[in-house]
Amino acid sequence: MTVAAQELSSSSMDLPIIDLDVFRNQPRDSPAVQDECLKAAKALITFGALVLHDSRVSEKDNDNFLDLLEDYFAQPEEDLKKDERPELSYQIGVTLENTEKPKCAVDEPCLRVIERLDPSERPLDITAHSPDPKCRFFWKMVEKPPYETKFPGLNAANIVPEAPHIRERWTPTMDQWGASMKNAVEGLTEMTAVGLGLPAETFREAGRYGPHLLAPTASDLTKYGEKDTILAGFHTDLNFLTIHGRSRYPGLHIWARNTGRRIAVKIPPGNYLLVQAGKQLEHITGGLIKAGFHEVVVNDKTVDVIEARKQKFPERPLVRISSTFFWHLSSDYDLTPIPEVAEKARQVRAEQFNLGKDEGEEAQYPPMKVGEQVQNELKHIALMA
Ligand SMILES: [Fe+2]
Repeated sequence: MTVAAQELSSSSMDLPIIDLDVFRNQPRDSPAVQDECLKAAKALITFGALVLHDSRVSEKDNDNFLDLLEDYFAQPEEDLKKDERPELSYQIGVTLENTEKPKCAVDEPCLRVIERLDPSERPLDITAHSPDPKCRFFWKMVEKPPYETKFPGLNAANIVPEAPHIRERWTPTMDQWGASMKNAVEGLTEMTAVGLGLPAETFREAGRYGPHLLAPTASDLTKYGEKDTILAGFHTDLNFLTIHGRSRYPGLHIWARNTGRRIAVKIPPGNYLLVQAGKQLEHITGGLIKAGFHEVVVNDKTVDVIEARKQKFPERPLVRISSTFFWHLSSDYDLTPIPEVAEKARQVRAEQFNLGKDEGEEAQYPPMKVGEQVQNELKHIALMA
C-alpha cells in the first residue's frame, strides 16, 4: 500500500481500498483474487462505497479533463445554451444551473433517512433548498445494442461544443478519461459479482448496452463559494455504480449505510477512484447493497482550496468540476432482484434489526425494465415532465 493510501484509511475515512490490479493480474481462482472480490462486495454492502485502485488510470488524463471542463463552463451562458436538450430530458449535452432538484427535499422516505441520522451526522438542510446551483454535461459512452431499444430517447447521439478553443480537444479528452473510468468500473462490476457468489460477467453483461454517461458537474465558485453552500443536495444516484476521479476542490460527503457516519471524501492522488452504489445495484440485489447517499457542499476545506487556487492560478476559471461517470444497466434489461442475493438481503436486514439498527420501512423492488426505473427517477428530480 502506498503512503497516500495509508493516510486515507487512517485519517479522513474508513473506506476500504479495493485493488483492481489484483483481480486483473492474478488467476481468477486464486485466494488473493477471491479475497479481494469478497472485500469489494462487503465494502458495498457496509458502506455503499469504496476506493478503487487501478494502475491504468492516469492523473494526467484527469488533469486534461478538468482543464477542458473548466474552460467549457467558463463560456458565456448563451454559448452553453446551444448544447441544451430539454426535449430529451437533458439526458445528453448540458444542464444549466438551477434545473435539477434534489429529490430528497420533497421525498418522504428520504427525509426519514435524514431523521434517523444523528444530528451531528446530518447533511446540510435541503428542505428549503431550491434546484441545485450546479451545471452538468452528459457525454454518452455506449455500445449500440444489436436490437431495437424500447427507450430510444435515452440513447441519443452526443453533442460536441462549437467554440474553436474547445471543439478540437473535446472528443479525445472526454473519450480518454471516460474510457479509463468505464474500464475501471466494469472491472469492479465483475469483482462485485464474484464477491456475491455470482458468475463474474453477471452485471457487466446486464449493462453491456447501458446508456453509460461521463457526467461532469460544474459549480461556479465565484457565485457559490461561500461556506455551507449546497452545490448538490443530499441524494442517491439512479444508475448502477457511479465512479469519480479526483476533484480539485474538496466538498463531497458520503454516508456509510451501516455506520450512519458522514464521511468527507478524499481520493489519494495517482491511480485511485471513488465508487458509489446506485439504485439499479440496490434493486438487483434486493437491497443487500443500498444506493449510497451523498452531497456536495462548500466546507472549510473547499474554502481553503478556493483561496489557494486564486493565488496560484489567478488566470484560471474558479469552477469546481466533479469528474463523474454513471455506469448503467441496459435500458431494455429486466430489472428484478436475483433470488439468492435477495435472500441474503433479508438476512442482513434481520441482523441489523436485531442489533437495534432501524433501517426504516422495507423497500420494495418490483420487476420492471431498467428504462422504466430511470424514467421514474427522472420524474422525481424535475428533469422529465
Ligand atoms: Fe450523485
